[in-house]
Amino acid sequence: MSLPKTMRSLLQPSATSTDLTLTTSPLPTPERNSTEHLIRVHACAPCAGELLWPKNFPPTKPRELIPCPDIAGTVVSAPEGSPFREGDEVYARTNYIRPGNARDYTIGVTEELALRPKGLSWAQSAAIPVSSETAWQALFIHAGIVGDGAGDIIAAREAWKGKRVLVTAASGGVGMWVTQLANLLGATVIGTCGSNNVSLVRSLGAGEVLNYRETSLREWGARPGNKVDVVIDCIGRKSLEDAWWTVRDGGVVLSIFQPPRQVRPEDYKGEGVRDVFFVMVPNRKHLEEITKLVEQGNCRPIVDSIWPLEQFQAAFKRLDDGHARGKIVLDLSLTQ
Ligand SMILES: NC(=O)c1ccc[n+]([C@@H]2O[C@H](COP(=O)([O-])OP(=O)(O)OC[C@H]3O[C@@H](n4cnc5c(N)ncnc54)[C@H](OP(=O)(O)O)[C@@H]3O)[C@@H](O)[C@H]2O)c1
Repeated sequence: MSLPKTMRSLLQPSATSTDLTLTTSPLPTPERNSTEHLIRVHACAPCAGELLWPKNFPPTKPRELIPCPDIAGTVVSAPEGSPFREGDEVYARTNYIRPGNARDYTIGVTEELALRPKGLSWAQSAAIPVSSETAWQALFIHAGIVGDGAGDIIAAREAWKGKRVLVTAASGGVGMWVTQLANLLGATVIGTCGSNNVSLVRSLGAGEVLNYRETSLREWGARPGNKVDVVIDCIGRKSLEDAWWTVRDGGVVLSIFQPPRQVRPEDYKGEGVRDVFFVMVPNRKHLEEITKLVEQGNCRPIVDSIWPLEQFQAAFKRLDDGHARGKIVLDLSLTQ
């Protein structure tokens, strides 16, 4: 395959500036004797808040600050021994140690890539990895309900059966995956979202939906029978603070936004509640399980909006406004 000498690439100029610029740069080159693949990017997706990561969580080795951790694309070249070949259609949440994927060509390693689900558009495929893998790892590993996180759905169903889970921001990128997966595992899901998204969150499997603009979680949690076994918080701050009042003694408050104890109410008197924060790790096996669930029709991605690369400013504004319904995606085949 003949390759161009240069490509489009979105750059964050420094860790302290969130003003992205569209530049032209040489193609990345896979490292020799590694598991790196060169991938032609068809679509990529940003993650909420990611332009603050370089400042708050500096990469261990300095690197180009290219946003968008999620890709869907075609393998251009694969290293010896790879399970993937030239032409394979793959997707991934690529590791934070390397630049992201808002560029025409990128690098993906064997440990994070999976074949993308059949029957989806490129944009739908790029909407899946970081959100679904985070939800998977919350439910199968970090909530502590299932032992080892190996992805045994039958054992996980036994462990989750009958559990009550509160998911905050259930209409967001991660929340909609937590809602779908927890529902599949047999838990009773209560989701929070705005009024526009109530029917969407219900359609994803929530048995009860709370409009966060109208419902006080403290009051809701005080009503008989409402307490939950697990909170999975996807928004942090005030929502997470209020969510403490909904968990039963001995339950779990898990957040993907911040350590829950940072906002535990001073007058909270519950006992034995475990609080958990984690950062997801790209994992091929988890993504392969998600692929199967999507192909079987058990889960689906939701795309909020699709933008050409050149309209990155409008796309990031929509993301930063915090009201996306599902994922925002950049489709690199679109012209502005
Ligand atoms: N720890 C990790 O490994 C990890 C992994 C992935 C993401 N994250 C982080 O998790 C956070 C969520 O990411 P995301 O992609 O799911 O976010 P997102 O898609 O940007 O979330 C937007 C959604 O949140 C809803 N929302 C806003 N305020 C709300 C509130 N107070 N209560 C309930 N819903 C509310 C919005 O609904 P309305 O329009 O109705 O307001 C909208 O649908 C981000 O901070 C991201 O960086 C962490």
